[in-house]
Amino acid sequence: MSAQAQRRVIIAQDAQALAEAAAARLFARTRQTPHPAMICLTGGTTPKQLYQLLATSPWRERIPWQRVHWFFGDDRFVPQDDELSNAGMARRAFLDACAPPQNIHAIRTDVETPDEAARLYELELHAFHPMPLESAPLFDLVLLGVGSDGHVASLFPGTDAANETQRWAVGIEDSGLAPFVPRVSLTLPVLCAAREVLFLVAGESKRAIVGRVFDGDDLPATRAHAARGETVWLLDRAAAPPNLKET
Ligand code: 6PG
Repeated sequence: MSAQAQRRVIIAQDAQALAEAAAARLFARTRQTPHPAMICLTGGTTPKQLYQLLATSPWRERIPWQRVHWFFGDDRFVPQDDELSNAGMARRAFLDACAPPQNIHAIRTDVETPDEAARLYELELHAFHPMPLESAPLFDLVLLGVGSDGHVASLFPGTDAANETQRWAVGIEDSGLAPFVPRVSLTLPVLCAAREVLFLVAGESKRAIVGRVFDGDDLPATRAHAARGETVWLLDRAAAPPNLKET
């Protein structure tokens, strides 16, 4: 079966409904594991509403914070108090208020280079998952957004990083897209090593790229799917091309 055929599509009425639906799926994933749940967060603007929701009732009381570990699919190589920082955004929106500090696994940005940060993050992930990615999913849930060019995390179309098959994380000096800061990103094999990959896509500006992904164009977003799990595209109505139906 192709990656395309395995995608489930859920269309939410608006951005608030999208955040609610994402919170419910995230919560369900924290309950479906006998071991502590491993959740990989995404950056960008779309997930902010979800993150803020998680810090409010009823999700705040429901989520078993002690047994959830939070990771990041990518980050901008800036300090966490910089407004461009993905980890900083998630920390301010919900993690600092809700998650035990030892369960927050941000990508280091206080080291010399993005490559060094990638190497250290890879080691940290190996400590949680000391086995090949093919043997078992690494993450219970990977959240992803899609860029207007079809990138996911910081894997931009046509770049070596997007085609990396060996390394778990890579440094990216030139993002080619705003914000123009170096990045660190997990690679596709790692992002795909998930029980669920959940895309969060909102707004009319995403409709064209969603159409290209569902037409099968070769883009990182097209190739990002749970290798042995569920891939869900959760869109708001504005982001959904007219011919895209819920499945
Ligand atoms: C980042 C991201 C990136 C993002 C998409 C969509 O660090 O910028 O992780 O991959 O998810 O660019 O971003 P929006 O939600 O802002 O559209």
